[in-house]
Amino acid sequence: MGYDYGKIWVTGASGRVGTMIRRILDMRDVELFETDVDDLDITCADEVTKFASRNRPNTIINCAGLTDVDECEKNIEKAYRVNALGPRNLSAVARKIDARIIQLSTDDVFSSRQERAFNEFDTPNPVSVYGKSKLAGENFVKELAPKHLIIRSSWVYGREGMNFVNYIIQKVSAGEKVRAATDEFAVPTSAKELSRVIIRLVKEEQEGIYHVVCRGGCCSRYELAREIARMLGKDESLVVPAMLKELHPRMEGPDYTLLDNLMLRMCEMESPATWKEALAEYINEIL
Ligand SMILES: NC(=O)c1ccc[n+]([C@@H]2O[C@H](COP(=O)([O-])OP(=O)(O)OC[C@H]3O[C@@H](n4cnc5c(N)ncnc54)[C@H](OP(=O)(O)O)[C@@H]3O)[C@@H](O)[C@H]2O)c1
Repeated sequence: MGYDYGKIWVTGASGRVGTMIRRILDMRDVELFETDVDDLDITCADEVTKFASRNRPNTIINCAGLTDVDECEKNIEKAYRVNALGPRNLSAVARKIDARIIQLSTDDVFSSRQERAFNEFDTPNPVSVYGKSKLAGENFVKELAPKHLIIRSSWVYGREGMNFVNYIIQKVSAGEKVRAATDEFAVPTSAKELSRVIIRLVKEEQEGIYHVVCRGGCCSRYELAREIARMLGKDESLVVPAMLKELHPRMEGPDYTLLDNLMLRMCEMESPATWKEALAEYINEIL
């Protein structure tokens, strides 16, 4: 037996991060409640209150979200419902039952065309509906839940669902050409590295805002896709450079969001692996 986590409720448990948290947690140390949208819709305050009052978790990890950036632009109300109203409902109930809430958030609360890193003390300035709705979620959590931890990450990939890394793996493995943006930059972070740090932060009972991305700086989508092809032993020239605007006409580009894990460093917490180490681990696991 290790550290006793008590009762943890993970929402959005079937997603990339939710699934990985379950895989990493030692079940002997925790009583785990997992829900996803089919069992419990976090936008429904009544459902959230009933579930929390019945099960009384001491930690709520909110991995639920509308993470499809294009879908958020098309369906603004849904974006705010899931990414803002959901965390509001969970925070209100966390306060009521004296639980700690861990809210997952994103580098998209920042937007930048300049090459600079953002730490936890920088002021958010989202431009996309996704970024704005996630920031609204953060604000509800800060205002409503006395015990809270907000964790921002970027370009998270895992086995679940289609994400950029899985898409590139699929394309280059099939020998197909694929275009990737040379002017969109962030830090690729594996769901595994992120989940390891989330669990560590829960164990250490940390509060406030933490940026959690892999080490080693950021890269462009193009560099990431070439690295994937290289690690798979495939022809790197299958990855063709393109401008962000050509691939996503609504995005102006360039887009540069490098999160700096300043709080992790200042609190002398273990840093995640470099993005290349984490990517190699992921590719080895799925091959
Ligand atoms: N992926 C990234 O690059 C990234 C980067 C930074 C931060 N984050 C944040 O990290 C968190 C987890 O991300 P992820 O990559 O694990 O996302 P994900 O794979 O898209 O998982 C999100 C889960 O939430 C579920 N969900 C959607 N609406 C819901 C609702 N109303 N009630 C309950 N569950 C609902 C989704 O179900 P459906 O699939 O059926 O809709 C999905 O299973 C999100 O808050 C996201 O904003 C993600």
